[in-house]
Amino acid sequence: MTTLISSLSRRRLLLGTAAGAAAISTFTPTRFAIGQTAKLKVGLMLPYSGTYASLGNNITDAFKLRLAEVGGKLGGREVEFVQLDDESAPPKAKDNAARLLTKDKVDVLVGTVHSGVAMGMAAVAREENTLMVCPNAGAGALTGKNCSPNVFRTSFTNWQPGYACGPMLIKDGKKTVVTMTWNYPAGTEQIDGFKQSFTAAGGTVIKEILLDFPKVEFQAYLTEIAALKPDAVFVFFSGDGAVKFIKDYAGAGLKAKIPLYGTGFLTDGVLQAVGNDAEGIKTALHYVPDLDNAVNKKFVAAFKAATKREADVFAVQGYDTCTLLSVGLDAVKGDAKAGRTLYSTMQNTIVDSPRGRFTISAAHNPIQDFYVRQVKGGKDVLLGLAVKALADPATGCNMG
Ligand code: BEZ
Repeated sequence: MTTLISSLSRRRLLLGTAAGAAAISTFTPTRFAIGQTAKLKVGLMLPYSGTYASLGNNITDAFKLRLAEVGGKLGGREVEFVQLDDESAPPKAKDNAARLLTKDKVDVLVGTVHSGVAMGMAAVAREENTLMVCPNAGAGALTGKNCSPNVFRTSFTNWQPGYACGPMLIKDGKKTVVTMTWNYPAGTEQIDGFKQSFTAAGGTVIKEILLDFPKVEFQAYLTEIAALKPDAVFVFFSGDGAVKFIKDYAGAGLKAKIPLYGTGFLTDGVLQAVGNDAEGIKTALHYVPDLDNAVNKKFVAAFKAATKREADVFAVQGYDTCTLLSVGLDAVKGDAKAGRTLYSTMQNTIVDSPRGRFTISAAHNPIQDFYVRQVKGGKDVLLGLAVKALADPATGCNMG
């Protein structure tokens, strides 16, 4: 697939038109040629292997759960899924997204988890003027300097949960912190968001530790942290990497000595695997499974019944992605190429989510509440509100 991307470019050259216009003309005009009852093809480009596989599976299963709840159709069209394992591999992202569009001819792109992969995917979606909804990856640029009318996110920017965490540590009297994360936008942007609110409130980051994604050789760094004796440790890890980190942290004898904090991705979806090692960890996130609202109660029970697994933030984001698509596509009778009418309906939707109601910013990112949580008795429980209606600054976004 040098390949799919370059074949797209070749076709444009042959057509002799500008990139955006040519992109539209190269696609099968589903709604007019084969009618509005044709199935809507949804490309799920998510990790189904590697450290983020469980995240991809929860997004997928919750999307399908919501689809069943809305009657199995989006915009009056039955849905056919094309699932592609993106392996959380940024170098493969553009070719994978292009394959979904050109070979599988999907009408809508849904993905992904990894920030680097999402950026590649969005570049293709922009070029091909195809609706893309991102159900996790928090790369700031996606709804910042690279924002686009056809790209939406139902999750967060990495800055948001990081920023929401700073005051939590200050309130707990933690003034000196060592941070640790993977060296890619999810890690660096979440730590930057944390540092912004933490240092503004008087905290000091005494050491920042970065590892390549998805490395999990933590031991030497944990020894260094023990010697530094900070008031607390603040991290971003998720999926299998979070499981390993929480276990290693406890195994190194740090759990009882230096309190562990992080954005909520650290504990979501991993609590069963880590058992007692996670007890006491404090995080902030835009979801807690025990949120007391009717949509959440129904969702938690339905997700458990459908999958035999506990609901988490990734499942919520998959569920809400389907809700947002359903509202948008219903308004345009399933025409995924309806453009401005579709996008403005989606942007103006108030999503009635298990996380609580949220709105969508002009840059197409959720404006949402963040909660303080703590692991107690093997579950993340709600301690209170961290920040109300937090909006990402969307620096550099110009929809044109
Ligand atoms: C990211 O790559 O953006 C990401 C991955 C897992 C959890 C949160 C963010």
